[in-house]
Amino acid sequence: MEENLQLAVVIMAAGKGTRLKSQRPKVLHEIGGKPLLAHVIAAASHSATPGDIFVVIGHQAVKVRDAVASTDVRFIEQTEQLGTGHAIQCAREAIKDYQNILVLSGDVPLIRPETIEQLWHFHQEKQAAMTILTAVVEDPSGYGRIVRKSELWPDMIPPEVEAIVEQKALTPKQEHIREINTGIYAFKTAALLEQLGKLTADNANHELILTDVAGLLFSAGQSVVATQAPHANEVLGANTIAELVALDATLRMTSANHLMTQGVTVFRPETCVIDAEVEVGADTVIEPFVQLRGHTRIGAGCTIRSYSVIEDCTLGGDVLIRQSCVLTDSTVADGARIGPFAHLRPGSEIGESAHVGNFVETKKTKLGKGAKANHLTYLGDAEVGDKTNIGAGVITCNYDGVHKHATRIGKSAFVGSDSTLVAPVSVGDGAYIGAGSCITKDVPGDSLAVARVQQIVKEGWAAARRASQRAK
Ligand code: UD1
Ligand code: MG
Repeated sequence: MEENLQLAVVIMAAGKGTRLKSQRPKVLHEIGGKPLLAHVIAAASHSATPGDIFVVIGHQAVKVRDAVASTDVRFIEQTEQLGTGHAIQCAREAIKDYQNILVLSGDVPLIRPETIEQLWHFHQEKQAAMTILTAVVEDPSGYGRIVRKSELWPDMIPPEVEAIVEQKALTPKQEHIREINTGIYAFKTAALLEQLGKLTADNANHELILTDVAGLLFSAGQSVVATQAPHANEVLGANTIAELVALDATLRMTSANHLMTQGVTVFRPETCVIDAEVEVGADTVIEPFVQLRGHTRIGAGCTIRSYSVIEDCTLGGDVLIRQSCVLTDSTVADGARIGPFAHLRPGSEIGESAHVGNFVETKKTKLGKGAKANHLTYLGDAEVGDKTNIGAGVITCNYDGVHKHATRIGKSAFVGSDSTLVAPVSVGDGAYIGAGSCITKDVPGDSLAVARVQQIVKEGWAAARRASQRAK
């Protein structure tokens, strides 16, 4: 047999996830900003085990397939979900030429590549028909329990497994077993195929369950063994919202801990939401209640103050994000200062040492090096040159109700407070716009533009009015 047919990986992901009470299929629920199934596929692809990866899909199959379409996996349809044993029966044709198969569960997302390798090596070493990845947990309720032969003959080494008993079928004595089935296994394909056809729904679950294969193999005199995962946390399942949230917390804490090993300070990490793929440079300080999402990359020596949410952004070094800023799909260059309460919407490019202050919103806007927009401003579809100052309350009127138009402001210009710039319009380098102007025509460089109603002053008017009121 060819080397590459030694092993196939099958990920079971066809179930509905009834216990989540959700419209969304279980394996597309997210932890760490990524669907459960995507985590499992990533772990399988990053493990050093050889082999093709198959995913069994069924409930909302198209959605599930689309969500992981970019990965290098093949799909198997289980049109009716009759249980985990049935899921593998549906994979029969796909797996029959591989010597061994590894079965992973699409709802056990924190499994690490190293642990998959451990299972595979143990399986090979023991030459077992079935090797179960197990874990010993504080609260085993809901999980299938591992009944080891050693319970009958405690001295036997290594202890073989006699059966996996599902929660619903547990005897009172078995309820105390804390070694759980993780839903992750290795099989000799021939041995598995021999038993698969014998599965019946005549069990407490009333389904064709893969866990029954353990007992069938044991009864047939084949070896069923188990190896324990090094960390119980990584093999827990996500069957309820509470379990999902707990796994999300574990994953994010792992991300925060990883960043801390890289020289990043994360204060009160349990309050932060840091997605798995976020990168942060050394000496950056992340305050409590910060969210760093998606593919965000943050340079070294930055400070991210509390309540800021940064998604899919790239920040340079020495950037200060003050409290409560929302940054999405934008870039911020070295030394820039943002916030508090600033909103950088997609396509914002904030230049080196630029300042974006409180209640400033930018969208598809480029702010030059050292430029400032410090207070109460909206800049949309705009380009602002280096060192230009945008006064308080300035608005670019970029939308005419149908189309968006651009505003171009040159370098070292000054836009007075409360001015509106009706796009399309441009302001040249070094130009000066008087406060309160409504600019509708281009302003040449180095000129002054004032576009507001002339002030009228009537001397003595107020005193005269008061006097006339007193007389009444
Ligand atoms: C399963 C195990 C249980 C184990 C636990 C670990 C069975 C019968 N029980 O229980 O021993 O402790 O995992 O997390 O296997 N699926 C399909 N097709 C189906 C049914 C399920 O593809 O017809 C998929 C699901 O989408 C899921 C996985 O198989 O990704 C496991 O199914 P689930 O219903 O979550 O099983 P558990 O009750 O968690
Ligand atoms: Mg499950």
